[in-house]
Amino acid sequence: EKIVLTGIKPTGDLHIGNYVGAIRPAISLIKESDILPRYFIADYHALTTMQNRKELHDRIYQIAAAWLAFGLDPEKVLFYRQSDVPEIFELSWILSCLASKGLLNRAHAYKAKVDENIANDRDPDNGVNMGLFNYPVLMAADILMFNTNLVPVGKDQIQHVEIARDIAEHFNKIYGETFTLPEALIEEETAVIPGLDGRKMSKSYGNVIPLFAEEKQLHKAIFRIKTDSKTPEEPKDPKTSTLFDIYRAFASEADIESLAKRYEEGIGYGEVKQILFDAVNEKLQEPRRQYNELINDTPKLDALLQRGAERARDYAHPFMQEIRNKIGRY
Ligand code: TYM
Repeated sequence: EKIVLTGIKPTGDLHIGNYVGAIRPAISLIKESDILPRYFIADYHALTTMQNRKELHDRIYQIAAAWLAFGLDPEKVLFYRQSDVPEIFELSWILSCLASKGLLNRAHAYKAKVDENIANDRDPDNGVNMGLFNYPVLMAADILMFNTNLVPVGKDQIQHVEIARDIAEHFNKIYGETFTLPEALIEEETAVIPGLDGRKMSKSYGNVIPLFAEEKQLHKAIFRIKTDSKTPEEPKDPKTSTLFDIYRAFASEADIESLAKRYEEGIGYGEVKQILFDAVNEKLQEPRRQYNELINDTPKLDALLQRGAERARDYAHPFMQEIRNKIGRY
């Protein structure tokens, strides 16, 4: 049996990159028989960039409702909120004492921020809080606390999973076999969904297509995707097309092939956008309807989180006791 774990931060609107990179693969794994799924809301990770009481509160519900809307069955999945499991934060401290600063200096999110500061003639650590710097350690604790084998994520999270693995190996070497070594699970085809401007779709770039946008908004967003200035008749290369990259994540093999052919023959981008909209909308309309119902059912969401918290702690509590023991605290 394999333990599969993944988390989503409650920052910004969920977007189709989150869906394709993490939610969809995670949901489809639930159906496999030899898999134990553990999915959670990384609410304390969100604090590194978002410090707003109401927003955090609302967005936690949004992530919970989103998972349910896509069919997460809480009987089959251990679903919980990170901050309901205090053991994770205790483990995070212990792991931080085993993580070299040099390793964390190279973590992408921190490094990107430092590089951006340097490029703009600012102090390198301008706007860097310790949460951002320690982010990968907390993520390692998330993963290692639950004996995770596989972590379904988008490409941007591979490095974090590798850091978790490094820290686990280090701990095991010092204190004896304790942690399972995790591996990232990436769907190559759709590992990076591009956003409206062609860069990686990301809350921080403001280039997202929101996952639960109403039909009209979804249409508008898709028609805002940047294209080159080729005329409809000109042949086009699907490999360098943002529209096509997104289409690939939402269409069947046959439809992908047939659109690729039309690219080569020459097709107007307006028509491609309409085809893309239809494909995305078809996949999202039912989950959107479910989501809109669930998001107002806070008693149901509260009960889900409550139950998840208990079950997650039932697991984490004895394991944390074992870890304390290993490090010499009897
Ligand atoms: P977050 O909330 O930024 O993103 C959630 C998931 O969505 C994926 N993703 C994408 N996939 C494909 N294309 C994109 N454009 C795209 N944008 C985002 C991310 O790779 C991620 O899988 N650090 C994590 C949260 C986390 C976590 C964990 C994940 C905390 N602890 C432990 C796994 C295991 C994050 O920021 O995700």
